[in-house]
Amino acid sequence: MRGGTVQRRLRMLMVGCPGSGKGTLSARIEKHFGVHFITAGDLLRWHIRHGTELGKQASESIRAGRLMPDTTMMQLVAEKLHDMRETDWILDGFPRTEGQAQLLSEELYAAHCPLSLVVNLKVPESAILQRILQRWTHMPSGRVYNLSFNPPKTPGLDDLTGEPLETREDDNPDTFKKRIDAFHTQTEPMIQHFRALRSPYDESLPLLVDMAGSTSNEIWPKLHQLIRERFPDL
Ligand code: AP5
Ligand code: MG
Repeated sequence: MRGGTVQRRLRMLMVGCPGSGKGTLSARIEKHFGVHFITAGDLLRWHIRHGTELGKQASESIRAGRLMPDTTMMQLVAEKLHDMRETDWILDGFPRTEGQAQLLSEELYAAHCPLSLVVNLKVPESAILQRILQRWTHMPSGRVYNLSFNPPKTPGLDDLTGEPLETREDDNPDTFKKRIDAFHTQTEPMIQHFRALRSPYDESLPLLVDMAGSTSNEIWPKLHQLIRERFPDL
């Protein structure tokens, strides 16, 4: 409580199809509002880089464009969320099935930490494959570049560390098609479930807000305004 009013915490899900800009926009929110984000795919890529048992399984799934088991993903995310109980946060790419949404809601209920916003990115699929093929990633941090949209200052190198950029093993047309299929069959039904929910801070507002646009530059001003209106303390 602050000044007699409940402090509004941003506990947000960033959902949208592969390549829709979840990572790019989460990083912008972090930069502008200082809110940390957790990217489910980056947690898996950490295990792949470190050669763990989980990493071997994750590598197979990611290369095949398949999703990892719900309980595995919940455990990975819960470890991170545990340290962030008293803060604002964004989850990028988790949950992405109805089972994961159920597990997350149980976890957050037990921690008295309700979700306060779900942003659903709606970007035409026709725009996305090209972006994915031009994406370069700094694997240790998950920072993302694009040869035409946001190129690194020095070609092939991360702006902050100067380390080399790489392409992701799932950024090819065949795997991309499978990732899109998994989104339609497993993630879209989950998004429908969130549509029925209301904001915990204002019953008159929906929990989920659609953000449409062909580029993150079109979406960003709308997203920025939404966060300022709903979370004035940030
Ligand atoms: P994950 O790493 O989360 O991949 P994804 O969901 O497929 O999403 P991407 O990271 O590809 O795209 P994005 O929406 O973040 O877009 P970005 O900002 O990079 O997951 C990978 C895999 O891990 C999954 O396939 C699955 O196997 C597994 N996994 C992960 N989470 C899981 C879960 N919960 N359960 C089970 N399995 C799970 O943007 C894309 C590109 O576009 C970039 O190059 C960017 O620079 C560029 N771009 C952004 N904005 C613009 C713009 N305005 N104009 C032009 N280009 C732009
Ligand atoms: Mg991403």
